[in-house]
Amino acid sequence: MGHNLLVLEGDGIGPEIVAEAVKVIDRLCSHHGFQASVEYGLIGGAGIDSVGSPLPEETLECARLSDAILLGAVGGIEWDGLERHLRPEQGLLRIRTSLDLFANLRPAILYPSLTDTSTLKPEVVSGLDILIVRELTGGIYFGHPRGISELDDGEKQGFNTLTYRESEIERIARVAVDIASKRSAKLCSVDKANVLEVSELWRGKVTEVCDAIGGVSLNHMLVDNAAMQMIREPRQFDVIVTDNMFGDILSDVAAMLTGSIGMLPSASLNSRNQGMYEPVHGSAPDMAGKGIANPIATILSVAMMLRYSLEEPDLADKVEAAVQRVLDDGARTADLGGSMSTAAMGDAIVGQL
Ligand code: IPM
Ligand code: MG
Repeated sequence: MGHNLLVLEGDGIGPEIVAEAVKVIDRLCSHHGFQASVEYGLIGGAGIDSVGSPLPEETLECARLSDAILLGAVGGIEWDGLERHLRPEQGLLRIRTSLDLFANLRPAILYPSLTDTSTLKPEVVSGLDILIVRELTGGIYFGHPRGISELDDGEKQGFNTLTYRESEIERIARVAVDIASKRSAKLCSVDKANVLEVSELWRGKVTEVCDAIGGVSLNHMLVDNAAMQMIREPRQFDVIVTDNMFGDILSDVAAMLTGSIGMLPSASLNSRNQGMYEPVHGSAPDMAGKGIANPIATILSVAMMLRYSLEEPDLADKVEAAVQRVLDDGARTADLGGSMSTAAMGDAIVGQL
C-alpha cells in the first residue's frame, strides 16, 4: 500500500538535487509513518541518450499510474543541436499535456533569514509571499499552426499561434479563485488585453468565473505593467493568474525576488489532483556534477506534493519547517552566498526531520 511515486531525475543537476529530495521522502517513511513506493523513470536528455526519446513510452505509462511525480530538470548543451521535436524540453512539455497538468502553482516566498540575499532592498521584499497560477497546457506553447515557412519572395518566416478556448480559461480561473479564497481573497489576472483578442476573452471569462464563485476581489493588469509592479512593489500581489507564456516569464521574475531561483518549488496539477512537482529552476549544466546546487527547491516541491496530491498536509508543514530551521541556523549553498554542498544541505534538512 502507500502512495505510488515516480521520480524523474532528468539532466544536469537533476540527479543531484533529486537525490536529496528522496532522502527526505525516505526519512518521512522511516520516522513519520509515511508510506510510499518510489519508482524511477527516464526523461529529457537522459531518455534521448538511453532510448532515443525525451519522453519514453514506459515513463509515460508509469506516470499515468502514479499518484505524483517528482522531477529534477531537463536539458543541456549536448542536446541543443537536435531538431525541436527531439529536444529534452519536449519531454517536459509532453508529460504536461499527456497528463493534462493545466494548473501550475509557483509560490514565491522570501524566508525571513534570506531577506538580505535578494537583489531588491529588504524594505521592498521582506515578508514576500505570492503565488503565481500559470496555465500550463495551452496558449502559444501548443497552438497550431506553427513552424518556419518560406515566403514567395524566398524570405523565411517563423510563426506560432496563440489560442485559448473558453473552457481552458474557465478551469484555470476556477483553480486561481479557489486558491485565492483560501489566502487573502485577492486575485490579480495578468493579460495583454490592450492588444490581443485572446486576452480580451481571458479577461471576460476570468471576471465571469470570479463573479460566479464570489468572495474574491479581482483586478486585471497588463503584463508589461505587472512585470514592472513586481519589481517596484511586489507585496501588492497575493495570487496572480495568467497564461502559459506570461506565467513562464513572470515566475522567473518572482523567483529572483526571493533571493535565489534555487529556492522555488512548483506543482502542476490536473483536475484529479494528480501532480508533477519540480523546482522552478533548470538543469544548470554549468553546475552539474560539482555537488554545489541548492536542493531546497526540490525538497520544497516534495512538500507541495504532500499537500496537493497526497493529502498529507501535516507532513508538508514538517518539511517546510525543517527547511526554515536550517536556513535560520545559517545553512547556505553557493547560490545563497555560502559554501555548503548539495548533500550537506539535504542532510541538514533530513537531520531536522
Ligand atoms: C519552465 C521552463 C519550461 C517552460 C521550459 C524548460 C520548456 O522554462 O518550466 O518554466 O517554458 O515552461
Ligand atoms: Mg521558465
